[in-house]
Amino acid sequence: KLSDTMETKIYKINSKDDESVEEVALILKNGGLAAVPTETVYGLAGNALSEESAEKIFKAKGRPSDNPFIVHISELSEWDSLVESIPEPAKELSEKFWPGPLTIILPKSDKIPLTVSGGLPTVGVRMPSHPVARAIIKECGFPLAAPSANTSGKPSPTKASHVIDDLWGKIDAVVDGGESDVGVESTVISLAVSPPRLFRPGGITTEMLTEVLGEFTVDEAVYQKLADGKEAPSPGMKYKHYSPEAKVTLVKGSFEAFRKFAEENKEEGTYCLLFEGEEKEISLPSIVYGKKNDPASQAKHIFDSLRTLDKLKAKKVYARFPESDGVGLAVFNRLIRASGFSLIEV
Ligand code: TXA
Ligand code: MG
Repeated sequence: KLSDTMETKIYKINSKDDESVEEVALILKNGGLAAVPTETVYGLAGNALSEESAEKIFKAKGRPSDNPFIVHISELSEWDSLVESIPEPAKELSEKFWPGPLTIILPKSDKIPLTVSGGLPTVGVRMPSHPVARAIIKECGFPLAAPSANTSGKPSPTKASHVIDDLWGKIDAVVDGGESDVGVESTVISLAVSPPRLFRPGGITTEMLTEVLGEFTVDEAVYQKLADGKEAPSPGMKYKHYSPEAKVTLVKGSFEAFRKFAEENKEEGTYCLLFEGEEKEISLPSIVYGKKNDPASQAKHIFDSLRTLDKLKAKKVYARFPESDGVGLAVFNRLIRASGFSLIEV
């Protein structure tokens, strides 16, 4: 319907000093929405202190309103007023990993509207390392609420073109700052509970967190489907996620066993999601999502690969099991959700 669409402006910004930073900040100051690049994925940004902006974000994404937004800051000093207090371990995490792909959840202050926190008494804050994202926040003079800039349920966007595919005509601006470096969303850890609890694995790995925190727990939803009727401590965990149209199955085992399984079980429209080089060794059409033994490369391309499978109209996808160390846990977490928890060992 034409009456629902608005003009979406595209800005190509590759440096924090680009003149357009001011223009994008003005859109946000006027209560508008802009998709901005970050080092993890693109974020759909609006004023984090404004209920109206938050409501616009929910609407543009089609996101359930109990799912809270991460609040993005450009400098450490902006954190203080957003939370009740900053305990020592939180301070240490921020010193070690900010700016970067880590979100720290703490009890929120009154400055954060309940619309932004999804009705929760806590708020997740992160300082992105992407210079353009930080320049826009700084120019705004207020923190930015920014969920991933995809339509709710779709794979997160790691390129401006992904945002355009999902949100064209629904938001005021898209800032194209190139491909996201990490490729999966930030690590989310709550320090509002004791011991701290990991809600979402990401670019800051469990190994890195252990170095600073010592003990912390990993929420069971990181590995498995939330039991029916159980309340999600992190609301995002309960929703369908990262799903391409195709039915994805994660297949764990050697490449030889994988190939045999895929070739025996292929149908019209079956694709494979493989590691580099393997596509030459198999008779099914395939997409490469990273290099074997290189979890960072798998993270960087996983969402783009899932979107490509949609464009190819894949009906069924057999995916190679990702690495299990470092950022590999984050890739596994996204893929197992994309598959609706469908895992086969061969
Ligand atoms: O890397 C990222 O974090 C990206 C970029 C744009 O910064 N943002 C992002 O936001 O992934 P979003 O909204 O797509 O995912 C936020 C996740 C959701 O699963 C949400 O439920 C959880 O973090 N979350 C946010 N605030 C929370 C809170 N106060 N308590 C529990 N979970 C929270
Ligand atoms: Mg998201």
